[in-house]
Amino acid sequence: MKVKKAVIPAAGLGTRVLPASKAVPKEMLPIVDKPAIQYIVEEAVASGIKDILIITNRGKSLIEDHFDHAPELEEKLLSSGKHDLLEQVVGLANLCNIQYVRQKETRGLGHAVWCAKSFVGNEPFAVLYGDDVIISQKPAIGQLIAATEQYGKSTVGIKQVPDELLPSYCTLDVAQVQDNIYDVFDMIEKPMPEEILSNFAILGRCVLTPDIFDILAHTPPSRNGEIQLTDAMRTIAKHGGMMGVAYEGTRYDMGNKLGILQAIVEVGLTHPEIGTGFREYLKNLSSTL
Ligand code: UTP
Repeated sequence: MKVKKAVIPAAGLGTRVLPASKAVPKEMLPIVDKPAIQYIVEEAVASGIKDILIITNRGKSLIEDHFDHAPELEEKLLSSGKHDLLEQVVGLANLCNIQYVRQKETRGLGHAVWCAKSFVGNEPFAVLYGDDVIISQKPAIGQLIAATEQYGKSTVGIKQVPDELLPSYCTLDVAQVQDNIYDVFDMIEKPMPEEILSNFAILGRCVLTPDIFDILAHTPPSRNGEIQLTDAMRTIAKHGGMMGVAYEGTRYDMGNKLGILQAIVEVGLTHPEIGTGFREYLKNLSSTL
């Protein structure tokens, strides 16, 4: 079972980061010098993915521009001898084969993934949530792909989250298989306190088998009117087709303001160009807090 394609849903309204996300998609908000979605595309490419479908909507053409050629800019960088920058800018247009499809109504993450049906066809595929940036030694989605290729099942990226956060994530019924690999038997999206199965939640990544599309087509909207991907994945889990990988890596939630700041600070501290200066600045600042 080889995984060659990835889907990045980026058609949400991003209401938690308004007004920044009114005209600029939250997936385009920068972490130091790269927009969030670039980290995500690079993670997929580093995991061996060749074809990516980004799910967009009205007002997200900035994403398409970012991964396209910019002839005037490239010309300018060439003539002024800024070869490093030129390489970076041109590299973005050549990262991999990126296609786009529009989710015409914001009907939830499950519906966004359903929009990838004809791109995916009949093979397993990776899903990287467009507002979840994961910084790791081994690319996170690559860790999940390895599990799907080994076990022949869908795989979700999981981590333990504190009790108080569970109601805004999901909760999983899991049993450890080996090291960081788990069987996943059940899952409940946004659980009530009495529904909590464990502190494990799905965070930002999954690899799905194509039977998800038939299931999604029959998944009713949840309480908030959106078609939840978790509800469809639950059917797969209940039929014994789901693994979980507690992936190595730090996840930053670019869909909320605190997550954006954490990403900028932590990535900034390790940035080759400004890391040292930024560390000094933070040290001085922290002594005044
Ligand atoms: P979120 O639930 O975080 O996105 O979805 P949202 O709806 O933009 O968030 P808020 O609550 O309004 O702030 C996770 C990912 O799924 C995409 C989002 O773009 C995000 O990357 N998504 C969500 C879609 O592509 N379509 C949807 O209908 C909903």
